[in-house]
Formats: sequence, structure tokens, C-alpha cells
Amino acid sequence: MQHFLKVTDFTLEQAQDVFSLAKSFKNDRFNTPTTLNKQSWGLLFYKSSTRTRVSFEVGINELGGHPIVLNSQQTQIGRGESVADSSKVLSRYLHGLIIRTFEHSILKEFAEHATMPIINGLTDFNHPCQLYTDIFTLLERYSPDSVDISTLKGKKIAFLGDSACNMANSWILTAAMFEMEIVVSGPDGYEPKQAIVDALKADDLPVNFTYTNDPKAAVKDADAIYTDVWVSMGDEAEAEQRLKEMAPYQVNAELLALAKPDAYFMHCLPAHAGEEVSQDVLDSPQSIIFDEAENRLHAQKAIMAKLVELNS
Ligand code: CP
Ligand code: NVA
Repeated sequence: MQHFLKVTDFTLEQAQDVFSLAKSFKNDRFNTPTTLNKQSWGLLFYKSSTRTRVSFEVGINELGGHPIVLNSQQTQIGRGESVADSSKVLSRYLHGLIIRTFEHSILKEFAEHATMPIINGLTDFNHPCQLYTDIFTLLERYSPDSVDISTLKGKKIAFLGDSACNMANSWILTAAMFEMEIVVSGPDGYEPKQAIVDALKADDLPVNFTYTNDPKAAVKDADAIYTDVWVSMGDEAEAEQRLKEMAPYQVNAELLALAKPDAYFMHCLPAHAGEEVSQDVLDSPQSIIFDEAENRLHAQKAIMAKLVELNS
């Protein structure tokens, strides 16, 4: 069973197919093939969501399928039913399952016992659907006709703020996979952890990221600056300390001016204006945040269609 638990679960060739498919789906949104006809796909959430939930629900509908949204607390999982049993039971009803949870190990355990494809809708470790969306959003600009992944080579991404969060990890994996340059920058204590180095090595990818405490050095000549909330879901108890320590890493007009003149500002959203990013940067012509949000829909339809093809 082919799942999509992390960015590198598709080969480069398969990833190119996903981006090409996403482009064709976006070009003719309401005329996409009914790949999920008569299928029911589940969305299991242990955490809040706006974009992931709505874009998947709409996308499953547009591919002819039926989405079923489940809040983990309102299922027997919330009362202690095991992941293994839950996965086996849900596999008897559903044709695919998107899961947003805390530990990545929970997602992996679901996948081990599932006889349907499992898609990572965000874990504490990784957010691959967001990254395929972000790459697609860049490809629309670098290679509008063919969304050719070779145009990503050598592009510099600067990731600022919480350099150990799921989005930073995802960008580190993505940059290695597509041969992009990546610099992550944040305060000590929030640097990338050994788990992401291990993940790169496990996929035979180079450990090609650099880490610096200096946000100005990080963004110099960047093609895109990316940031994410300083307090991820599950980190709320540390909020005060995090906001204080990460304050020097706010992406504001002064910092954006140090990147390439045509650099993009990117954010997975939700954004906390005045914390990790200033309102003027969010609103600037260099900001492509709402294209990223829209593209969740097109990219995820393509991911589901590719998984159906690979599992048939
Ligand atoms: N970017 C993202 O995953 O948004 P949601 O938390 O709203 O799903
Ligand atoms: N790092 C954030 C991403 C939200 C889409 C979180 O996990 O809360």
C-alpha cells in the first residue's frame, strides 16, 4: 500500500506527475475526472484545522467521492480504542484516510495496519501536503507552462523562526529532495533536531541545510522567505517564552528587503500578524500566501489521484 506520510514518499518522477496533475486540475477545476467515484474518504483530526479540512473535503467531492470528517475525541479512539484496531476497522469502510495528529508514530501505526492509503494531514514532525502545495505554488511562477521540477534547483529558501517545527522539518526534506538551497534561522534551543538529520539519511538525501542565529544572513539573496507560527499546536504551554525568544526573527519589511528584490514571502497559515510576520509583509505584493492556500485544493486532489493510481 502506497501512503503519503512525508514529502519523500513519492519519487521525483511521481512528484512531477503530481504537480502536472495539479496544474491540469487547476486549469479546469470543475471538469476533473471522477477518480473517487463511489468512494468514501475519511478525515480524522486530533487537532484544529481550517485549510486542510475544507480543501480536502471540497477536493474529495470534486473528484466524485464522499468525505467523512471525524474528530478523534468523538470517536472511540478518544476513549482508548487502539490505533491498530481503529485503522483496521476504518479500512473496512473507507477508501482512504487523511490524518492530522500529534506524534508522527501514531500516523505510522495507522499506516502499518491500514489497507487503504493514509495521507499525512500534519503531524508534529511533518506537513507534506502543505509542502507539495508550496512547491506547486513556486512552480507556477518558475515554470508556468510545464511546472517542471528542475527549475527548483539552486533556488534559495530562508526559513525563519521555529526551526524545529513540522514546517521547518518539511522544508529541510523538500529542499534536499528538489536540490534547493535552504537556510534555517532561529534562536538556540529551536534548531533542527537529530530526527530530521536521520530522516534525510534514511532517504539517502544530503544533509544540505545550514542553520544560523542571524536572520539577516539567512535571508540574503533568498528567492523565498518562509515562516510559520512561533507556537505550534501542542506548544501552547511555552507560548510566552517562545514569543520572547523568537521576536528577532519576525519577517518584516526591513528583513524582506535583504532578500532578492523579487523574492516571495510564504506562510502555510494561519498567520499571527505582529508575531512571526508583520502585517505589511503579509499584504505586500511579494506575498503569495493566498495562492498557497488555494493550491492546497489542487495539489491534494492530485495527491489523492496519484495514490489511487499507484494502489490500483
Ligand atoms: N496550513 C494548514 O495546514 O492550515 P490548517 O491548520 O487550517 O489546516
Ligand atoms: N507549525 C504549525 C503549522 C500549522 C499549519 C502547527 O503545527 O501548529
